[in-house]
Amino acid sequence: MSETLDRTLTPMQRIMDPASRADPYPLYAEMREMPVWKEPDGSFVVSRYEDVARLIRDPRVSVEPQNSPRGGQGLSFLNMDPPHHDRLRRMTMRHFGPPNDPGRVESMTPALEAMVAQLIDRLAGRDRIDVVADVSYPFPVTVIADLLGVPRADEPKFHAWAEAIVQSQDRDPREPGKRSETAEAAFQQLASFMFGLISQRKGAPRDDMLSRLVNDDGPDGVMEPHEMITVSVLLLLAGHETTVNLISNGMLTMLRQPHLLQLLRDEPEVAPAFVEEMLRYEPPVHFTFRGALCDLEVGGVTIPKGSAIQLMLAAGSRDPRRFEDPDSFIARRPNNQHLGFGSGIHACFGAPLARLEGQIALKELARRLVNPRLLADPPPYRFNPTLRGPRELPVAIDGVIP
Ligand code: HEM
Repeated sequence: MSETLDRTLTPMQRIMDPASRADPYPLYAEMREMPVWKEPDGSFVVSRYEDVARLIRDPRVSVEPQNSPRGGQGLSFLNMDPPHHDRLRRMTMRHFGPPNDPGRVESMTPALEAMVAQLIDRLAGRDRIDVVADVSYPFPVTVIADLLGVPRADEPKFHAWAEAIVQSQDRDPREPGKRSETAEAAFQQLASFMFGLISQRKGAPRDDMLSRLVNDDGPDGVMEPHEMITVSVLLLLAGHETTVNLISNGMLTMLRQPHLLQLLRDEPEVAPAFVEEMLRYEPPVHFTFRGALCDLEVGGVTIPKGSAIQLMLAAGSRDPRRFEDPDSFIARRPNNQHLGFGSGIHACFGAPLARLEGQIALKELARRLVNPRLLADPPPYRFNPTLRGPRELPVAIDGVIP
């Protein structure tokens, strides 16, 4: 694929090209040979595992939009530095996992299994499916809506707004400021819709996360209404495009290497390790942005204060200096500390849920689809090189096991 590309471009410029989307990994290998690279736009690209893992945990790098010129969409605490980040993350985390609510994610298992079962039941009688539209997309979106407490009856409305926002992210990252008016309008509508739900729950809690967030008066105090809105929109959006790609990339990998499909059918207990390897081998998030708060020495290069930094998570997760045989999918790979969920203070908040969703969806797709075959290889990809995944995944099937 990359042979057709202009070799005078830098590896990062070639990564941006849609022609690289199906297989960016040879470009990541090229990048790792030149581990800290200054792009013509002045940003620095960091691609080796050790450097990425070190910088992503370094308090001298910032996620705030004013310090990270290529990044920040202003998505709540994802784009905040300490201390604001830590306070909001703590207040949100209290209702999502340990130490306050340790059983929360695990207790969702039966509901998640039922959702996947229902989505796959609907495929009965069809000989052609689109894994993205039929399973990968609707599953995590419904999960996060239920978790927050968005009524299922409102899902068509909320899906349309989320879809408009997600599609707007599927744009040319070389024009970071550009966001369509439709997406902006959808964002406003989603925010005011969330505000409505939050207001209803103030003083009249139900069994959902919005109620717990709005009525909490924990050690960090009360969340302000504008904070509640940005946090709930962050969870809603962060919680679905990524997991969609995990499931779609997972299915694509299994269809390309049918022994993996068979392994998951025969030994479903391998699913946790299998999903970790998927997060390393075909991760949903390929890179992330930061800004240098002071001069930084990395790989013998000085990154000057104020520079934008692109941390290549997906290149780091395939670094042969860290992982043996990194371009092979090894289902039970030992010591698999991939960068799929980032690391440090911004490490993925939703990782336990995303893992569970990935395990359940991939196990059930492997078990129930009869003789699935890829109809397009490579499938058509979304434009976005960061949140990378297929736009559609057409698959032929001979039926569905009840
Ligand atoms: C397979 C699915 C997912 C992947 C691969 C993924 C990946 C990531 C990555 C790489 C980051 C760090 C970004 C950075 O450092 O710049 C992150 C942060 C985050 N993720 Fe996820 N994510 C997934 C699913 C989810 C889900 C299901 C939720 C919500 C329930 C979620 C919520 C968040 C939030 C709130 C942050 C920001 C954390 C912070 O700034 O402290 N993610 N995710």
